[in-house]
Amino acid sequence: MAARVFTPGAPPDPAAVERGQKLFAPTCGFCHAPDGTGKSGPDLVADAMVIRDNGGDLIGRVIHDGRPGKGMPAFADLTATQIADISAFLHSQIRGAANRFAYSFHEVVTGNAQAGEAFFNGTGKCNTCHSVTGDLAGIAGRYQPPDLEARLVYPGPSFPGAGGPPPKPTAATVTLPSGDTVSGALVSRNPFEITLKDESGAYRTLPVDGARIELHDPLAAHKELIDSITDAEMHDLLAYLETLK
Ligand code: HEC
Ligand code: HEC
Repeated sequence: MAARVFTPGAPPDPAAVERGQKLFAPTCGFCHAPDGTGKSGPDLVADAMVIRDNGGDLIGRVIHDGRPGKGMPAFADLTATQIADISAFLHSQIRGAANRFAYSFHEVVTGNAQAGEAFFNGTGKCNTCHSVTGDLAGIAGRYQPPDLEARLVYPGPSFPGAGGPPPKPTAATVTLPSGDTVSGALVSRNPFEITLKDESGAYRTLPVDGARIELHDPLAAHKELIDSITDAEMHDLLAYLETLK
């Protein structure tokens, strides 16, 4: 599967959203909650696969085939149009969630910038990837507070409607059966071959058979962040980031 990213686009078609909602609530709502935020099944509004989905191209297979043994039933009878409608509905929910940040941003002023700085360099390990004098210098001047919070929670290209830098590619290391290793940015991958762009900019296509492949999602730390950060830590962190004008 080729590496692809969600490109923030126009809001989903309201008619498709409405059809999708009518289908989603009774069909999927029992496990994923009628609004998609999850019950026994996962929260689909904060789900990386759903966020990157475009018209059902990623979630379509999961819905069609289900995840046998993992509690996700197959819905083999749903048509491609119905799945696209469900995708439109979930994307409207994602936009709604993003907008809700705008209402919580007064919390920024309630945070403690000093505690935020300590978290940044300590428990949060933010300084292992970022520098307040490097990539994050002046970040508060680049984003309004609610956008800054949204960038923090949904960095990369996955935040609908937000600007921001182009995504960092997924880094891959392939160890061939001979023991040779090739590292580079993941370009594409299928069941037989993987293509990387190495440091010199050259494209290298390698057989997958017998090779060990390690992928490093550059945003993995953020997915963990969403799960682990407390509200208080978030407020302190934002208060600190706000000082980086
Ligand atoms: C009986 C409960 C149940 C129903 C009904 C259900 N799901 Fe699920 N769904 C799950 C569970 C549990 C998982 C997690 C499976 C796993 O761990 O891989 C899941 C996973 C998913 C995922 C994959 C998320 C990811 O990133 O891995 C998508 C997308 C999804 N469901 C969409 C739907 C849609 C759309 C419907 C309705 C057409 C639906 N589900 C109905 C229980 C359900
Ligand atoms: C393992 C590396 C890693 C860690 C740890 C990490 N980040 Fe990030 N962060 C990234 C990547 C990758 C991006 C995507 C933007 C990019 O490509 O530069 C990003 C994006 C961001 C952005 C948005 C930048 C912009 O210009 O839109 C902010 C703000 C941010 N991180 C803050 C933090 C904070 C605060 C922490 C600690 C709680 C943290 N990050 C931890 C890797 C990391």
